Formats: sequence, structure tokens, C-alpha cells
Amino acid sequence: MLPLVFIGRALPPRESTSSRPDWAQADPARIARMLQRALARPTGGWYVLDATDRIGERRARGFLVEGLRLVAWRRDGQLWAAPASCPHMGASLEGACVQGGRLVCPWHGLRLGPEGRGNWKPLPTHDDGVLAWVRLDQPGEVSSDRPVLPSRPASPTLIGVIRRDARCAPADVIANRLDPWHGVHFHPHSFARLRVVDEADDHITVRVAYRALGPLVVEVDARFETPSARCIVMTIERGEGEGSVVETHATPLEPGRTAIVEATIATSDRPGFRLLQPLRALLRRFIEKRAERLWIDDAAYCERLAYLRTARPKSSAEASHSQDAHHGIGRAADHDERERTAPA
Ligand code: FES
Ligand SMILES: [Fe+2]
Repeated sequence: MLPLVFIGRALPPRESTSSRPDWAQADPARIARMLQRALARPTGGWYVLDATDRIGERRARGFLVEGLRLVAWRRDGQLWAAPASCPHMGASLEGACVQGGRLVCPWHGLRLGPEGRGNWKPLPTHDDGVLAWVRLDQPGEVSSDRPVLPSRPASPTLIGVIRRDARCAPADVIANRLDPWHGVHFHPHSFARLRVVDEADDHITVRVAYRALGPLVVEVDARFETPSARCIVMTIERGEGEGSVVETHATPLEPGRTAIVEATIATSDRPGFRLLQPLRALLRRFIEKRAERLWIDDAAYCERLAYLRTARPKSSAEASHSQDAHHGIGRAADHDERERTAPA
């Protein structure tokens, strides 16, 4: 193994919160407590669909959210979303042509627009410039005018957005990110060194050496917070790329399936960063490739959490440990599952 070569800004020394091995710090009960706090945060009924620029003006794109089939499209640049079933005889509107900003039903040509028709009505949407959101008003949840948005860096930025499905609940996605201790062990291709340097009720901060290329690593302090029950954000607090964020959103598709939508919004005060702007499209692909690589591992982690919670037969000793340690994660996820399957 080649020795690590640190590049970029040097960070001042900082104590770790614990010298215990990672597996001992990754206490399921501790993660479950953090998860419970995260899941208690309101969402305002908002769900991330995908990168906003992946929804176009020519055809309606289909989405599944909370078991409901939806379509999203754009009219004069503005984002629209509505149920995916035509109010006439129920044809699917996924992939329907958009003409003059209206959906044209593929079966009999009914044109559907912002005024709606019968029970078919457009849904509230929000376009934050990076991500497209839709609001579904759920019983027991207070709706808000806008989604909870974490603070993002001002331009110049380089942006990448990935979306992938996993067989798990949204709570499993948040739980994965609330366990930084797996980073070096499970993603050795991306992280060379990682230790927790600060932890409180509302955040956890790690000092992480991120692999740029082979033995070349960049060390930063990265803070994880959960602004809403379906989002966890990593912000680079100190070091190269200070102010950059990675927002991980978990959108429930249907029971047992979740879409992970992750936006990386990178910034830097280095003068050369501005010069990279003409290469935005190329660099976007690079950013997304790195994120996709991590989520190959992490989707497996989330699916394993879901499996352990729902399917694995337990011995009596495991059941007792599970009740002590995993109870919070299980309960949180079960609660999440109940909420998602409640009738609209
Ligand atoms: S089913 Fe859509 S117009 Fe008839
Ligand atoms: Fe991970």
C-alpha cells in the first residue's frame, strides 16, 4: 500500500471524539437515536423527483411517489406535475407529448393543462434550480409552501445529480449516512481516513481524507445534518471546497422501494475554479460517476438494513439484542412504512 500524499489545504489538528475502533463507535443504538431525531423533522409534504433539468418541455416524464403514478413536465420553463392517469378513460400520460404547455393524451387527444379537469388537477411543485419537487398532501403531515432547503453555496458551482432506486425505506438511506464509521472500511476506493471530530444532537462532523487519485488525498472537515425526515446533507466546513454540499434525498416510491436522489453542489474559492465553468458538462459527469460509485456500495448497505429489519429470522439472543439496539431504527422505519402506506 502506497503512503498517503495529502494535497490541498492543510487543516489544523483536531481531536477525535473517541479513540475506540470504528466498529465500537458505530453503535446501533446511537445511530437509531440520531435517526429518530431526523425522522421527527417535518418535510412539509415535499418529495424530490430528480434533477430539474431532466424534466423537459416536450414529453411528460413518469414518476412513482408514495405508490402514486405522477407525470412532470415543463411549460414556459415552469415545472408542472399531475397524476399520470388521464381523467377521460385512464390512459397513462407517462411519455405523453406536451404541446403548447399542455399534455396531449395518447388515446383520444384530450389536452390537459394548468386548469385541470374533474379530479385531475396539477399538484404543487417547486424548482430550486437544481432539483424538482412535488408536494403530496398526506394525512397527519402539515404541508408547507416550500420544501426545507439546506443552505447551498453561491456561484460559481459545479453540480451533479444522481438518482438510483434501492429496495429499502427512506429511513434506511438516512441511517446509512448517519453511520460515518463504515466509510473507510466499506468504501476504501473513496476514503483513506475518517474519524469523528464533533457530535451533537443535530449534527456529526468527520475529518475525512478523500481519495483524489490513488495515494493522493484531500482532507476536509465535513458536517452531516438532517434538515428534514427525508434528507441528509453533508457540508464541507473546512478545507478544500469549503461550503460545498452533498444533499441526499430519499423519496419513497412504494413500500420497500426508495429513490435516492443526490445532488452534489461543489464550490471553491480557488481562482482556477471559475475557469472550470466552460467544462461544467464534462465535470458533471465526473461528479456523478463518483457519487454513483459510492451508491453502489451504499444501496447494498441500505438494502441490507431493510432486510435485517423485515426478513431475517432471529435467534432469541439476536432478538433481544435487536430490541435493545436496533429498536429505534426498526420502529422508525416501521413508522415510516405505515405513513407511506396510509390511504391518501
Ligand atoms: S383516455 Fe385520455 S383522452 Fe381518452
Ligand atoms: Fe457510505
